[in-house]
Formats: sequence, structure tokens, C-alpha cells
Amino acid sequence: MADQHATSTAQTWTHRWTFVLAAAGSAIGLGNLWKFPYMAGMNGGGAFVIAYLVCIALIGIPIMMAEAALGRHGRHSPINSMRELAREADAGRAWGLVGWVGALSGFIILSFYSVVAGWSLSYTVDMFAGSFQGMSAEQVGQSFDALTADPVRMTVWHAVFIVLTGFVIARGVHKGLESSVRVMMPGLFILLLLLLGYSVMESGKFMEGVRFMFSFHPEDLTTEALLSAMGHSFFTLSLGMGAIMAYGAYMPKKASIARTIGAVAALDTVIALVAGLAIFPLVFAQGMEPSGGPGLLFVSLTSVFASLPGGQFIGGLFFLLVALAALSSSISMVEPVVAWIIERFPVNRVSATVVYSLVVWLFGIGSVLSFNEWAGEEYQMFGMTFFELMDYLTANITLPLGGLLIAIFAGWIMKRSHIFKEMNLSTLHFNIWRALCRVIAPAAVVVIFVSNITG
Ligand code: PHE
Ligand code: NA
Repeated sequence: MADQHATSTAQTWTHRWTFVLAAAGSAIGLGNLWKFPYMAGMNGGGAFVIAYLVCIALIGIPIMMAEAALGRHGRHSPINSMRELAREADAGRAWGLVGWVGALSGFIILSFYSVVAGWSLSYTVDMFAGSFQGMSAEQVGQSFDALTADPVRMTVWHAVFIVLTGFVIARGVHKGLESSVRVMMPGLFILLLLLLGYSVMESGKFMEGVRFMFSFHPEDLTTEALLSAMGHSFFTLSLGMGAIMAYGAYMPKKASIARTIGAVAALDTVIALVAGLAIFPLVFAQGMEPSGGPGLLFVSLTSVFASLPGGQFIGGLFFLLVALAALSSSISMVEPVVAWIIERFPVNRVSATVVYSLVVWLFGIGSVLSFNEWAGEEYQMFGMTFFELMDYLTANITLPLGGLLIAIFAGWIMKRSHIFKEMNLSTLHFNIWRALCRVIAPAAVVVIFVSNITG
């Protein structure tokens, strides 16, 4: 079934850097620029940020290494890789479930991710057109509210983003991805540093921002904040859904998993911290609430662009780069599923992509409506809008669950000699990784889960 396509899927990406660029492209996205700041703002700042950093180190990186190793060893789409690996380890077919949980996560995440990416497309166009120039911070806030109040405008931009994603997927990921990530990433980084510089020099509130992000008040660390921090460490590293596994299949055998994954995770973390350090001082300078929610990135930065001479071009470029960062992430949500569909069924890539994109787009309309027609309490479930529920369900439940299963598989089920060879570490380093993967990471995930249910 899978085997006749195996060679085409398993062609190792020849260029050494391709895996790094693809994985970094997947990891770096709205999670860093949009979600991290507003989550930190809503969960008390320092407590959340520090819990998040600990989760990245103790849970995220070990599981990310495991996921890449499973992908490289399995060399198929995640669903089929997990089946192959389970067969090799004489474990049950039920391990294919990991791939399915991942596919479900990817589907749900893309449906709302695309809506937010649509905002950044909308901001790109309005910014270049100069629509924000001269607006006060308050007016900028009102124009964000006007966007989210308009389901038609949001649905159109959501459609545009899904079409862009589908276009790259249909053409085949390798062609477009590498070169676009190569340009997007340094561009984004430079602009973020410029914004950081502005916050340091001009906001007058830089130290207030630093204190908000890094001062640790243990009483802020509710179990809910802890679950959010853990969930976000999965979300931001694209972990537990098969994206890293799918790209891992293309990783050259010689490449060091520890070094490449370490680099990607470090880059992802630095970008999130720089985004936070650029944004929070502006939030304070503009008298915004750090806990203001999903509009934080859009409103705080747009106010600055609106007040700067030439700000419309810098701002337009910035939101364009945000959209491109989102695109290299959304591609990685779709690719594992589409790769599996064409391994499994007699359909070609283009039709698989078209049908899948259409279904995701339709489902995403629920998230569009969460900001307007369905914002009222009568439409909420568990006190959340549809959008919030989809975010909660994936970041806090399905991604950690997928990651937990991956950690258990790599730590307990797979033959030690196989995983040892994939990791290619000294015995000491291997044993540290293995302890984290077998015991620490799974235990932490389970404890955080359970304390949330009971607490
Ligand atoms: N890591 C991406 C981001 O931070 C989001 C993502 C989640 C991508 C899960 C793929 C899978 O924006
Ligand atoms: Na990220």
C-alpha cells in the first residue's frame, strides 16, 4: 500500500540546510509573534514566561528530538511511519493512532490559524495603502475591532490565506519552501530587532516591559497558567502533530538530531522573547491592557507604524513577513495529511489539496464567527467561544497527547539500539535525553493534565 510511493516520499532532501529551514519555518510563526505575547499578557507575564521556558527545555526539546528521530527512521507520512515503526518494534497497530491524533490537530489548528493569518494579510494591504497613517492609538484599536466585527471581510482573508497554503502544497513543498524561508526569516528577524530598538529608545517603558515579562510571582502560577505554558511550548515548536516527523523523514542520516533540533528550538524561543520585549513596552506606553487578548500584536505595533514617517512601508513589510511566517507554518500543518492521503488513496496531490483546503476553510468559519455573530454567551461551550475552544483543544489537549505518545514510543517501545543510532550521541548524552523522554517529559505532561482536571 504505502510502499510503492515510499521512494518518492523518502528522497532525502539533499541540501544540508533544508531540514533546518523547513523545521524553523514550521516552528516560527503566529505562535511566536501573535500568540506568545497575548498568552503571556493574559497569564500574568513572568510566571507564564518562565514556566514556558522550563517546558521548552524539559519537555519540548526532548520530544522534538524524538519526533524528528521517528520521522527519519520511519521515512513515510506520519500515519504510515508510525505503523511501520510499530511493526518493526513488534508493537500493536494502535500506534498508528499517533498519526491520526496529529492529523486532527493539524486540521483544527489550521482552521483558526488561517483566520488570524488572514488578519495579517488584511493589515499588510491596509498598511501599504496608508490607511492607518496619523491614527491615534485609540483609533487603531477601533479599526481592529471593526475588522473582527466584520465576518465577511474576515472570511475573505481567511479564504485568501487557505488558497495560498493550498497553492504551495499542490506544487510540492520542496520547491517554494526553502527559498522563501531563507528570505523571510532574516527579514523578520531584522524588523523585530528594529522594533525592539524602538521600544528600548522611544517607548519610555522598556524596563516596565522587561519586569512584566521576567519577574516571577509564584502566586501567578495557577495550574491553568501552567497548562497554557506547557500547551504553548507544544504549539510553538509544532510538536505532537507530525509536522516535525514529516520533515524528519527528509533529514539526512548524517545530520545530528540534537544539534539541529536544538538550533531550531533556540531560534523559535529567541524570536518569541524578542517579540514580547518589543511589544510589551509599547503596550504600557499606549496605556493598553497586557491582558487585552488576540488583538495585542496588531494594535500595539500598528499604533507605532501609524505615528512614524514612512511607517506605512515598514509596517506593510512587517505584516507581510508575519503572513509569510504563518504560511511556512500552515504548510507544515497540511503536508503530513496530504502526504498520507496520496500514499493511501489513488488521488493526485492537487485534488487532495483542493478538497482538504475546502473542508478546513469551511470549518474555520466557526472561528470567524466567534468574534462577531457567535461571540455571545449563548454560543459558548465551557465558557469559550468556538475559536477559543479550538485553540484550547489543540494546544492544551491533542498536541500534548500526541507528544506524550511520541515520547513513550521513542522511550519505551522502540528498540534502544535503533533510537540510539538515530540520536548518534555519546552514551552520557543519550542517557540524559532518554531519561527526559521516558520519565520527565511524560510525567510532567500527565501531572499538568491531571492537576488541571482536578484543580
Ligand atoms: N509552531 C507554529 C507557530 O508557532 C504553529 C504550528 C503548530 C505549526 C502546530 C505546525 C503545527 O506559529
Ligand atoms: Na513557534
